[in-house]
Amino acid sequence: MNVTVIGTGYVGLVTGACLADAGNNVFCLDLDQNKIARLNRGEIPIFEPGLEAIVKRNEEAGRLRFSTDVPASVAHGELQLIAVGTPPGEDGSADLQHVIAAARSVGRYMDGYKVVVTKSTVPVGTADKVKQAIIDEQKKRHLGNDFTVVSNPEFLKEGAAVEDFMRPDRIIVGADDARAIAMLRQLYAPFQRNRERIIVMSVRSAELTKYAANAMLATRISFMNEIANLAEAIGADIEEVRRGIGSDPRIGYQFLYPGVGFGGSCFPKDVKALQRTAADAGRPLRVVNAVEEVNEAQKHVLGFKIRDRFGQQLRGKCFAIWGLAFKANTDDMREAPSLALIDDLVAAGATVRAYDPAAGTEAKKLFTESRNVTIVPHAMDALEGADALAIVTEWQEFRSPDFAGIKQALKTPAIFDGRNLYDPAALRAQGLEYYPIGRKQ
Ligand SMILES: NC(=O)c1ccc[n+]([C@@H]2O[C@H](COP(=O)([O-])OP(=O)(O)OC[C@H]3O[C@@H](n4cnc5c(N)ncnc54)[C@H](O)[C@@H]3O)[C@@H](O)[C@H]2O)c1
Repeated sequence: MNVTVIGTGYVGLVTGACLADAGNNVFCLDLDQNKIARLNRGEIPIFEPGLEAIVKRNEEAGRLRFSTDVPASVAHGELQLIAVGTPPGEDGSADLQHVIAAARSVGRYMDGYKVVVTKSTVPVGTADKVKQAIIDEQKKRHLGNDFTVVSNPEFLKEGAAVEDFMRPDRIIVGADDARAIAMLRQLYAPFQRNRERIIVMSVRSAELTKYAANAMLATRISFMNEIANLAEAIGADIEEVRRGIGSDPRIGYQFLYPGVGFGGSCFPKDVKALQRTAADAGRPLRVVNAVEEVNEAQKHVLGFKIRDRFGQQLRGKCFAIWGLAFKANTDDMREAPSLALIDDLVAAGATVRAYDPAAGTEAKKLFTESRNVTIVPHAMDALEGADALAIVTEWQEFRSPDFAGIKQALKTPAIFDGRNLYDPAALRAQGLEYYPIGRKQ
């Protein structure tokens, strides 16, 4: 099929590359000229395992191209997939300006039937706005081409995005038009060979499903973080509790990890947008409000523990940080808990030496102006002159480090572990002070 993907970010690039890999002819549009130039030079602007090879082989096969040419992108695809960003607006609601701009472009240049598919995470009612934007643009041209707007929210996870796209748990299709549904079935057929994964529903239900899914996952995280903080206060061990409750199949082990709070480009903004939708509907979501409140506090948990150990005033102290990305296997630092920790340390007068296996370049852009934060290229470099080490992201390479080397390099042999990567007894046996989350210290 001829497919246009509008917005070539984390979602758009993965979607475009995977659809091309299934044999479709894909046109990836972005307004960011620099991004498109890099892609056309063979550079992948994001860190996403497995993506580079797929992009390369499909570009070489002529099935995947990158461009800033809006009229050509509209002309290309019978399916127009909108995958632009929906950042939080000032009141927490999703800012739809990019989605509407994309819809307007389709309306401005379309010539014949199009299925306009919203993959971006958008509030309930957005499909109606997309439809109206297309109609408005067509009216200006005195045209009335037929089109359908479909909600097809994306559930891929950064760090495992290719795998998630290629083997989805479910594909939500919100539509009421048989022709459009048939086209989406055809588009996704290669990704559901062993069983049907498409769930067709109303457009509004599809839009809400995405927010409900992210809010549920965020709820599990905040719940575990609160139980972890309680466990720590009353002498229980959250890792034992986690195994104890995860073994119940109604609960399961996934998304039960206590830590430094959730971040990233999705959960924080989606939780806010859902709160906004609910408030506007006169049905505030008390559980979701609490999830956000708990998360905001949890992002500061390592900062508290460090100040508890070293004093409120940290002038002259330096802290090593391992992990800046909001989670492992991505370079995405949007709303990363590492940023809250760095803020806390710097505000208390400390300096920071930070290392991340993939987010170093991103971090350097964020901290170019800062004299207090140095981004270093290797994990052990971060420890040079540092008083203690804080671990913020659960990268595989941090799981079994050289503890003797860490102990030797740090002024105080203390590890503040925001991801519970280590066995407390083993660390203590090596003479290290260990401060995990929700465990005896
Ligand atoms: N990142 C994720 O893990 C993830 C997962 C599921 C859903 N989502 C949702 O998908 C959407 C996109 O997220 P992302 O992380 O890929 O965003 P992103 O910021 O990485 O990419 C968005 C891209 O859209 C481009 N763009 C903006 N307006 C445009 C326009 N009018 N025409 C063409 N291109 C335009 C931007 O230049 C940017 O490259 C968001 O709604 C997000 O909530 C993201």
